[in-house]
Amino acid sequence: MALALQRLGDDEFSLATELAVAPEQLEFTGTIAEALDCLGDSRHPHGIWLDDSLVGFFIVDTDFAAEFEFCSEGALGIRTFLIDSRRQGQGLGKAAARALLPFLQGAYSQRVSVWLTVNCRNRGAYHCYETAGFTDTGALYEGGAAGPQHVMRMALR
Ligand SMILES: CC(C)(COP(=O)(O)OP(=O)(O)OC[C@H]1O[C@@H](n2cnc3c(N)ncnc32)[C@H](O)[C@@H]1OP(=O)(O)O)[C@@H](O)C(=O)NCCC(=O)NCCS
Repeated sequence: MALALQRLGDDEFSLATELAVAPEQLEFTGTIAEALDCLGDSRHPHGIWLDDSLVGFFIVDTDFAAEFEFCSEGALGIRTFLIDSRRQGQGLGKAAARALLPFLQGAYSQRVSVWLTVNCRNRGAYHCYETAGFTDTGALYEGGAAGPQHVMRMALR
């Protein structure tokens, strides 16, 4: 089985909205429909594919510093990273997070780093990002509705 990350075309948005997380996980990501509603030019939706099945989703934000002061100017951000609830716990989150580095180095070759925030209670997601090469900056982002979030960063070159 091959896992691949790929930017979603407009015709794939409806497929993406079929992905869902458990109700108790919604506070960490919101829904995909909400994420797709506020894309704008700088937020690029991506699919996580396992062979021909769409199993997950994330957004590459090319202007993350516009919202987050901690982020370096011109750096990328990852938003709404999720694996469909029916496919969680099978290693896909870790594999997809690990695939981010080579994918972003290829697709966004001019960018030097990628950042994200993860809720301090979201230990599974934190673990995925850490094993994928993200480093905890030690900073806490307090602006989220669901409580403090760790700020993590990974160099792209
Ligand atoms: C976070 C998420 C993407 C992980 O995807 P997944 O496919 O279930 O993850 P995996 O099966 O690859 O691995 C999860 C890892 O976290 C670990 N883990 C899970 N819960 C944990 C916890 N409470 N504490 C520590 N580690 C935990 C698992 O043991 C596993 O690690 P291991 O294989 O080294 O033992 C998925 O749970 C998800 O979509 N959650 C809802 C959305 C979300 O919170 N996204 C992150 C926003 S920042």
